[in-house]
Amino acid sequence: MKKKHIIRIDSEKCIGCGLCRADCPAGNLLVKNGTARVLTQDCILCGHCVAVCPKAAVSITGFDAPPEEIGGPAPLDPGALLDALKTRRSIRQFTARQVEPDLIARIIEAGRLTPTGGNAQDVSFLVLRDEMEQMERLAVRLFRRILPLAKLASAMAGRMTIDDHFFFKKAPAAIVVVSRDKVNGALAAANMALMAEACGLGVLYSGFFCMAAGHSRPLRKALGLGRGEKAVATLVLGYSGVTYHRTAQKEAASIRWF
Ligand SMILES: Cc1cc2nc3c(=O)[nH]c(=O)nc-3n(C[C@H](O)[C@H](O)[C@H](O)COP(=O)(O)O)c2cc1C
Ligand code: SF4
Ligand code: SF4
Repeated sequence: MKKKHIIRIDSEKCIGCGLCRADCPAGNLLVKNGTARVLTQDCILCGHCVAVCPKAAVSITGFDAPPEEIGGPAPLDPGALLDALKTRRSIRQFTARQVEPDLIARIIEAGRLTPTGGNAQDVSFLVLRDEMEQMERLAVRLFRRILPLAKLASAMAGRMTIDDHFFFKKAPAAIVVVSRDKVNGALAAANMALMAEACGLGVLYSGFFCMAAGHSRPLRKALGLGRGEKAVATLVLGYSGVTYHRTAQKEAASIRWF
């Protein structure tokens, strides 16, 4: 369970500069008689007041770790970022090499640090490794049942066969990103995929597994998904067993300037 958080201002340290008040998105701070004050403890707990205070006068209780001092935004090379996006591919062939636990932890850290609407922090992560085959079996069972219907509706489904590795392609690990809010989960997943690629891993988004997790009661139960919890994205992870020699072409961006 999440711990209770209380915002405190140390009046000994506060110089009344008002930077916290100016940056608070909830109008929850004021400066009176040269000292900042918190109006209520019922805010989005974004922590901007802590981050912006030049005197470290603001603190919020109940977190596992204190804030870290930083020298400014961490630089991200725009060219390197675009190259990474351009050259990444969905990986559907993996080697037998396991994904190291510290890489899984880094990928989840990228998801945890991704912003959420209203600072809801409503994203959680299911790591599938030892029980991956069992989960895949439940998803396969559902898809084999619904495939005849799908074949009536789509020519592409008509060409599909649901083999035992249809969802995870024999990859050694997957992370299911769970959230009540689809946007929050999807943003976390995108950053996690980037981190996985930065760690040298291949990634496949399995939309089909999310679909199965949305519709199969036994799979939802096995994954421990509660009412209203959505498997927003499933990142299938492993070391790539395929080499690409050139980029894949994409359509031009559709842009409207106003
Ligand atoms: C949200 C999402 C869900 C996807 N689901 C699947 C899937 O279930 N199975 C699959 O083989 N590919 C899946 N893909 C991969 C897409 O087909 C792939 O991204 C697209 O063909 C472009 O290829 P690229 O990722 O290599 O650029 C998914 C991709 C996204 C973004
Ligand atoms: S930013 Fe810090 S020093 Fe400035 S008013 Fe707020 S609490 Fe006080
Ligand atoms: S945590 Fe965010 S919303 Fe709450 S008082 Fe501080 S700046 Fe304002």
